[in-house]
Amino acid sequence: MLPAACRCLAEADFPIAEVSKHSAREKSIRHGHPSTVHLWWARRPLAACRAVLMGLLLPDPCDPRCPEGFKQEARRLLGRVRGVGEGDEALRRALLGFIADFSNWENSANPVFLETARGLVRAAYPDGPPLVVDPFAGGGSIPLEALRVGCEAFASDLNPVACLILKVLLEGIPRYGRARLRVPTPDGGVEEVEGLAEAVRRVGGLVKARAEEELAEFYPPDPDGARPIAYLWARTVRCEAPKCGAEIPLARSFWLSKKAGRRRALRYRVVRPAGRPPEVVFEIFEPKSEAEVPKGTVSRGNATCPACGTVLRVERVRAQLSAQRGGADVVFDQQGRRVSGARLLAVVTVRPGEQGRHYRLPTERDYEAVWKAQRRLDRLLERWRNSPSEGLCPVPDEPLPPEGTLGFRVQKYGMRTWGDLFTARQKLALATLARGVRELDPHPDPLPEGEGGRVPEAVRLAMALVVNRCADYLSSLCSWHLPGEKVNHTYGRQALPIVWDFCEVFPLSDSTGNYDGALEWVAEVIEAWPGSPSGQAQVADATEHPLPDDAATVWFTDPPYYDAVPYADLSDFFFVWLKRTLPGHPLLRDPFDPENGLTPKTAEIVQNEAVRLNGQVKDRAFFEEGMARAFREGRRVLQDDGIGAVVFAHKTTEGWEALLSGLIRAGWTVTASWPITTEMGSRLRARESAALSASVHLVIRPRPDDAPVGDWGGILRELPRRVGEWMDRLQGEGIRGADLVFACIGPALEIFSRYSRVETAEGREVTLAEYLEKIWEVVGRAALQQVLGSGDGGAGALEEDARLTALFLWTLQSTNRLEAEEEEAGDEEEEAELEEEDEEAPARRAGGFSLVFDVVRRFAQPLGIRLPEWEGRVIETKKGVVRLLSIRERAKVLFGREGADLVAQRIERAPRGPVQLELLLGGGASVPEVRVQGGRRGRVRSRRLPDGSQEYAASRGATTLDRVHTAMVLQAAGRANALRALLRAELDRGPEFLRLANALAALYPKGSEEKRLVEAMLLAVPR
Ligand SMILES: C[S@@+](CC[C@H](N)C(=O)[O-])C[C@H]1O[C@@H](n2cnc3c(N)ncnc32)[C@H](O)[C@@H]1O
Ligand SMILES: [Zn+2]
Repeated sequence: MLPAACRCLAEADFPIAEVSKHSAREKSIRHGHPSTVHLWWARRPLAACRAVLMGLLLPDPCDPRCPEGFKQEARRLLGRVRGVGEGDEALRRALLGFIADFSNWENSANPVFLETARGLVRAAYPDGPPLVVDPFAGGGSIPLEALRVGCEAFASDLNPVACLILKVLLEGIPRYGRARLRVPTPDGGVEEVEGLAEAVRRVGGLVKARAEEELAEFYPPDPDGARPIAYLWARTVRCEAPKCGAEIPLARSFWLSKKAGRRRALRYRVVRPAGRPPEVVFEIFEPKSEAEVPKGTVSRGNATCPACGTVLRVERVRAQLSAQRGGADVVFDQQGRRVSGARLLAVVTVRPGEQGRHYRLPTERDYEAVWKAQRRLDRLLERWRNSPSEGLCPVPDEPLPPEGTLGFRVQKYGMRTWGDLFTARQKLALATLARGVRELDPHPDPLPEGEGGRVPEAVRLAMALVVNRCADYLSSLCSWHLPGEKVNHTYGRQALPIVWDFCEVFPLSDSTGNYDGALEWVAEVIEAWPGSPSGQAQVADATEHPLPDDAATVWFTDPPYYDAVPYADLSDFFFVWLKRTLPGHPLLRDPFDPENGLTPKTAEIVQNEAVRLNGQVKDRAFFEEGMARAFREGRRVLQDDGIGAVVFAHKTTEGWEALLSGLIRAGWTVTASWPITTEMGSRLRARESAALSASVHLVIRPRPDDAPVGDWGGILRELPRRVGEWMDRLQGEGIRGADLVFACIGPALEIFSRYSRVETAEGREVTLAEYLEKIWEVVGRAALQQVLGSGDGGAGALEEDARLTALFLWTLQSTNRLEAEEEEAGDEEEEAELEEEDEEAPARRAGGFSLVFDVVRRFAQPLGIRLPEWEGRVIETKKGVVRLLSIRERAKVLFGREGADLVAQRIERAPRGPVQLELLLGGGASVPEVRVQGGRRGRVRSRRLPDGSQEYAASRGATTLDRVHTAMVLQAAGRANALRALLRAELDRGPEFLRLANALAALYPKGSEEKRLVEAMLLAVPR
């Protein structure tokens, strides 16, 4: 135990930039990384968890209370991996340097690093390993790192799928990773093998052999020996135009492969048999250019008939697909001839001894195999229906979450059960694999660890993960990944959108998304673990924690993100298969509600007002209350001199407030905070509205019961200084924009949460909400000071619209990120999203830059910026998103539509020349003054003076921003003379113009049209 009140390292300093770099990089690590054992959404990078954990566990050598013994031992240990200078400061630096290096994935299993880390922890806790507790453990990043550095770990989560992952990672692998295990042999005997990974491979082989036998006829090889590895399907609807009625295969694109040297696509012709609807007939060809490939038939949910060109509106597409329960299955007649439903577009094959993929058109044999699979499944279901003792339906018949559940769009297309997400053949394959695992062991209930049954529990749990991995790659929501010529998995995002044209893999093939792959991923994770004592995992509600009082040394957790991830609903996709793979397993019984056939929902902490559960709505109050209770439990479970940490990655200010208020109400105080960037590249959301790429790690301690009452005046005096210092430090570490704003909340809370309550001089209690408003104001002021050299509306300050624009762009800046090796699925994901009628799409198409309204509001209000005043002139607010108008739109505001069109033409280098622009911008000698489209306030006018020169007179009310934008527009229009004239006039007028223009040049996003224009315009400024 560290001496009470000795500061820990993470309360003194933290290597933000290095750990951020390793955290972001870690996302591209694949083989052997624990996250690949099974999908869990929004996992924390291990690098960040490891580094923060070390910072929490180790004392700060500069604290006078730091034990000498620790310092000596630390010097000795660190001396083996790096130089350590004289004195406590140098030791602190060496410890931080070690933490930074150790956060690198490459070093995480390096024996020297491991021994050093574990040695340091032992030196800090000579009486025995500290216990690290994580009550929202999810995919297990935090407790896993606790085990790695030699702690004990107790991990719990409400969700049984998470708990299964935790069981495997924290218990199974540490305990049996290197053990000798008894496994069945193909001939019915038993043999001993070395290590869990080998056991899983052996048992996995048995399950596969059996599945091969049962499934072979449903995936026949081609007569020429080629092996289908994937079937590319399209859902279909019928054209409703009179006299047409053609079947429309819904496809986003007709490309099959864009690989150099193997470009393949589909094209079609329409045949019109007499008396029957037209038919679309495909062929595969080798396109020379994009233009040769026909456009997709579906866009934003609307389908276009290839035969007559009529558009079938999204509502009708939905209605037709609903009648087919989503339409993933083929409908056959009695004789097995395809009548309607899903249509095969192409079959991807490999040939023995040949590299690469081949593409062919579907044949009768392909459909016949599907028909057989359907009939087999029917028989299976028939048998189950007729024998009530059989237990669960062999395929998932559990209902999907109600319509409106965050991220779930498939219900609109008629999918009602989890089984509807799969084709009949997919269901059959997965049910066969699940049964294979289930029947490995004749005992339905797990036996005491290591005893009896033919297959050890740890192996069966690992096998259940394998089946789930297969399910992720074997649903009708898997699309074809063009660049990789492989299948995308179901959960490319934290959502289930419809996929029109989907890819069905042959799970027993040798290609991606197959069973062997799933098995290997799991085995590799097992092998990569460097070995440790085992931890403990358990299903539990964080608001009623199972541990006794004062049990934990460290309470470190990453709680749910307000409204961002509907974990329980998402995880049911896997849960329904787990029930069939591990029937009766105690982990899968809802301990809170024995009737519930799905994952526990009632106690899940999440904000989702669309859904009402047992009469209760999961509104903000629910979330906040849940957080407060979980934090209170944390306080109870933690020793008085223990330490805690909470990860915050909320994307909404409400989420932050709810979480923070829970934390403070529960009696914690914030002692330090560190933002760690964990995202690479510009993810979809980031481009939309400045989503956060940093998550803030708050270091917290139990607040003493006798904490004093804080004085509001004093706090307000302290705040700007702390925020100012912190902004400097963070900017030095590459943290920018919204990340920076949220990261400033940490140190601000250090001030506020020291007190039992905060009061004004009059004795009124100050709420957290009020304080947060102040924080935004202070940060906003500091930001303006930085970019415009003036924070408030004082003398020389720029007008409201300039401040709004500058602050907007400042917030939009993104933290320096690694240039991404973008997640491979990136483009595809985006495409998928755009395909659907997407509410936010119009904003994105309109250009400009977006931020969520709440963020803009919080800045604007205290800084005297009246948003409604600038609506339609500088910003546009729609559906909670504020868009800063693009320069083209600003041109329209300033010069009317005509002006904007001309500018747009010039920007786009359209052939039509600048003729009319002359007129518009005062080039014609006969036009003494041009007033464009009514003299609306804020427009810029120009006139030609008698001496032939031009004068640009901003009409009354034209602001500095208007004038800077005018100059940018002139620049865009190629009006060099006019621009020079304007610039001369501006230089005479005063410094504001250049001040703002320079600020904007620094703030406009890299690569934007605006940045290019303002920079080019500034080059024209006379020196
Ligand atoms: C942000 S995730 C944790 C992710 C984890 N740190 C990782 O790296 O994988 C939050 C977790 O809280 C869980 N959760 C939600 N409500 C809960 C509750 N009342 N009790 C316990 N866990 C809960 C969710 O199932 C989810 O796994
Ligand atoms: Zn038609």
